[in-house]
Amino acid sequence: MSSQILLLPGDGIGPEVVREARRVLEAADAQFSLGLSFSEGRLGGIAIDEEGAAYPDATRALARGADAILLGAVGGSQWDALPAADRPERGLLAIRADLDLFCNHRPALLFPDLAEASSLRAELVAGLDVLIVRELTGGIYFGEPRGITTNADGVREGYNTDRYSETEIRRIGRLAFEAAQKRGGRLCSVDKANVLEVTMLWRETMESLSADYPDVALSHMYVDNAAMQLVREPKQFDVLVTGNLFGDILSDIAAMLTGSIGMLPSASLNADAKGLYEPVHGSAPDIAGTDSANPLATILSAAMLLRYSLNAPEAAEAIEGAVASVLAQGLRTADLIVDGNHAAAVGTRAMGDAVVAALRGH
Ligand code: IPM
Ligand code: MG
Repeated sequence: MSSQILLLPGDGIGPEVVREARRVLEAADAQFSLGLSFSEGRLGGIAIDEEGAAYPDATRALARGADAILLGAVGGSQWDALPAADRPERGLLAIRADLDLFCNHRPALLFPDLAEASSLRAELVAGLDVLIVRELTGGIYFGEPRGITTNADGVREGYNTDRYSETEIRRIGRLAFEAAQKRGGRLCSVDKANVLEVTMLWRETMESLSADYPDVALSHMYVDNAAMQLVREPKQFDVLVTGNLFGDILSDIAAMLTGSIGMLPSASLNADAKGLYEPVHGSAPDIAGTDSANPLATILSAAMLLRYSLNAPEAAEAIEGAVASVLAQGLRTADLIVDGNHAAAVGTRAMGDAVVAALRGH
């Protein structure tokens, strides 16, 4: 049986990191006979330039037909002047909405060899293993009405709407409870229920679900406190569940705890476990084309793809093991180097080579 993987390299460093992840997937395929086949499409700025839309019809057709999707990153300053609705980022939001990828898993896992690269003291992050479950197709990112208008005094005003239905909260809540059941049995729901009605409903709904999961300890935290607790004592958390905007922000914080935003993978899943996999980092246009981006977040996203969408947990573990072993060998891309502790940084391609070699030696 063959599995069709759609690659959407996107913009900036996207093509470089996706190229390395593809090589790792090919090496895993050779070893585990996964029957992978690849197609490639355009999303984001490159799609605007070449096909006139951030999520072109051709990409939509490929995405709907694929078994899983691996994405690099979208966006760059050359598209900043476009109206909001035409920007590269809208392509990413459109594919998430089109495939109903409402459940975003962002695991922040510290590889032991990277403790010293964390922005926190090593003892605060040693053994860190937190999963952020972010709702991805609702909330203020998609709520209507939205826009920029000019009011009666001729002053412009921008507005967005944060809204969640009980149905939307319940479906992300259930998946978060299930994730907690498979892990440490603790779920912290993050909201701003002291101020925002939408998150009062969020909290109530999470509370009502908890009766169905007696083996999971549910707690609640306001988002400002959660941001503080993540940098104060991150190991107190097992699974965090939160809405679209808070999840965006908290996952960048969590990423830094693991040494670099260049390390964090993600999976965005729909109800059928069809998924889009992408690094949490952005397109980093400042280093695009310089062979210095860290490909590990994308390689780890490819491992998540094998685990969640292709049901190939052994191949996923082999890739994760290969990443751990290149880090243990001391290989570091520039983003992972602190205080010159390591020899010169390796480039994107060399890091990919090392992961492929480690995988073959597995
Ligand atoms: C992310 C990114 C995106 C988001 C942007 C690029 C639209 O920051 O995936 O975290 O805000 O969701
Ligand atoms: Mg983000």
